[in-house]
Amino acid sequence: MCGIVAACAERNIIPILIDGLRRLEYRGYDSAGLACLPADGQLHHQAEVGKVADLVAALDEKLAAPTGIAHTRWATHGSPTRANAHPHVSSDRVAVVHNGIIENFESLREELQADGYTFRSETDTEVIVHLLDRALAAGQEPLEALRATCKRLEGAYAIAAIMRDQPGRVLGARLGSPLVVGVGVGEHFLASDAAALVPVTQQMMFLEDGDLVEITRKQVKVHSQDLTPVQRKVRISSLPADAVDKGPYRHFMEKEIHEQPEAIATTLNAHLEGTRICPSLDRSLLKRVRAVHIIACGTSFHAGLVARYWIESMAGVPVSVEVASEYRYRRPAIPDDTLLIAISQSGETADTLAALGRSEELGYLATLGICNVPESALTRQCDHVLMTRAGLEVGVASTKAFTTQLTVLLLFTAALTKARGGDARLVHKMLEDLGHAPQQAREVLAMDDRVQAIAEEIAEKPHALFLGRGIEYPIAMEGALKLKEVSYIHAEAYAAGELKHGPLALVDDTLPVIVPASSNALLAKLVSNLQEVRARGGRLYVFADRGVDMAAHPRVEIIEVPAPHSLISPILQILPLQFLAYYVGVLKGTDVDQPRNLAKSVTVE
Ligand code: G6P
Repeated sequence: MCGIVAACAERNIIPILIDGLRRLEYRGYDSAGLACLPADGQLHHQAEVGKVADLVAALDEKLAAPTGIAHTRWATHGSPTRANAHPHVSSDRVAVVHNGIIENFESLREELQADGYTFRSETDTEVIVHLLDRALAAGQEPLEALRATCKRLEGAYAIAAIMRDQPGRVLGARLGSPLVVGVGVGEHFLASDAAALVPVTQQMMFLEDGDLVEITRKQVKVHSQDLTPVQRKVRISSLPADAVDKGPYRHFMEKEIHEQPEAIATTLNAHLEGTRICPSLDRSLLKRVRAVHIIACGTSFHAGLVARYWIESMAGVPVSVEVASEYRYRRPAIPDDTLLIAISQSGETADTLAALGRSEELGYLATLGICNVPESALTRQCDHVLMTRAGLEVGVASTKAFTTQLTVLLLFTAALTKARGGDARLVHKMLEDLGHAPQQAREVLAMDDRVQAIAEEIAEKPHALFLGRGIEYPIAMEGALKLKEVSYIHAEAYAAGELKHGPLALVDDTLPVIVPASSNALLAKLVSNLQEVRARGGRLYVFADRGVDMAAHPRVEIIEVPAPHSLISPILQILPLQFLAYYVGVLKGTDVDQPRNLAKSVTVE
């Protein structure tokens, strides 16, 4: 993970680096640092353990420079200490920041140590800066030295480097980790994503794997690995400069929960054109699909699990869903004409990309990416893409990305059902229910007072059990994930029918049992499972839609989710569970937007 930002300008770039780091902090936040080339001709560098604010507090207010690089870290190799924080420096003349993992760093370290280099950190990154220094010391030109360095690296990297003897110049390279060039007027920038740069420029050039780049105030030069100059398109970012702004909300997570009705509506509009559903998808391709495999991680995996119920029951196509980290090391059997769907908010998750990378070798019919970040690696790697239009999601715990993924997945189900000559009334019903989603989501979000009261009770408990049946089971899983991510309460999700095979042993009067319930065909079965909990004294919190009548049951806290049961129930049912996790986190005083040990984009294995 980690975020990097770099700048070459006439003006002082320290505030630009700091603002960029704040915007990238969702990528990692255990230490932060910067290196710059002030007018005194020296290479200045500084790093602090903790967040960007800790770095800012420690910086000399008078520090000013026209060229610099900066980094916010999520530790992989080496714990979060000042010595391991980036930038890493060699011979007081080269500084490097890096996002990714260098897999062959141990052998490179031995080689460089034998050459007389002293290592100050436990990181894999430090080999990069010494390799670069060694190439420069041997008289190579900066770009040639960078090329020689990159050639030695195995793994993934986005790099930015400055050299004391090359003021006004920043070098960059990427392979497997993202790097974007911000094109300004008489100034240029590099960053891990466009959101870091939108306050200074809207013009972005997305680099491709293997690209080497050199930026100065006046120029951007991009080269392929053999140093042939290449052109990369400049695109205008649609991200508003205030995209990384909490507005009236206390946390990004709260803001993003509230943005869901709008995000769902925007996503729907993007994939409906009159009667055409997902017009960007080729009908003849959909007609051929005989099976679907879905790969994803974290919250995106849960979206895939929900989609399995939809696609199998409505389009009649068999679906398998697997976490990408397992799938990538398996030899799966692929039926003929299987479509591989990769779901990822960031489009950067290393395991998902690696799993996707096997699609050709495994013989899939085609690949379809469902992604929230345009120009991400995933969108470039897939044959077809359906974008979610959630807007920038900053909170590490994913909320609006999930509900927009579900929106796209239900639209995809409708398109697949239609293309395969399925029930036209069912397709109509899917679209009708989806059409109600933004307004119904608004109504559900208005119930947050009730959820706040429950949060007070849950916040005191060390554990929570989430139960669900059928399509509510993945919603229970997502609810449990949200709670553990942001409140650090141990939460487990179980298929309600599995209760008696183990988790029932945990149930006593101290255990809150949280249940999304819907008035669907499995309700009677779910009610029986709830009796089993109740009989053991467990405290039940049932988030039930309007059709569920459980009022007769004592000791069951029924929280009405103000919406009728419909095909979009999973989209609505996760909303109170997101709120619940959020409020419990707030009550417990955790850092809900940046929970400990986590990061938003997991770009390492
Ligand atoms: C991290 C994030 C999660 C996210 C998961 C998958 O763990 O903290 O919120 O669900 O990665 O990320 P992706 O970008 O591939 O959806």
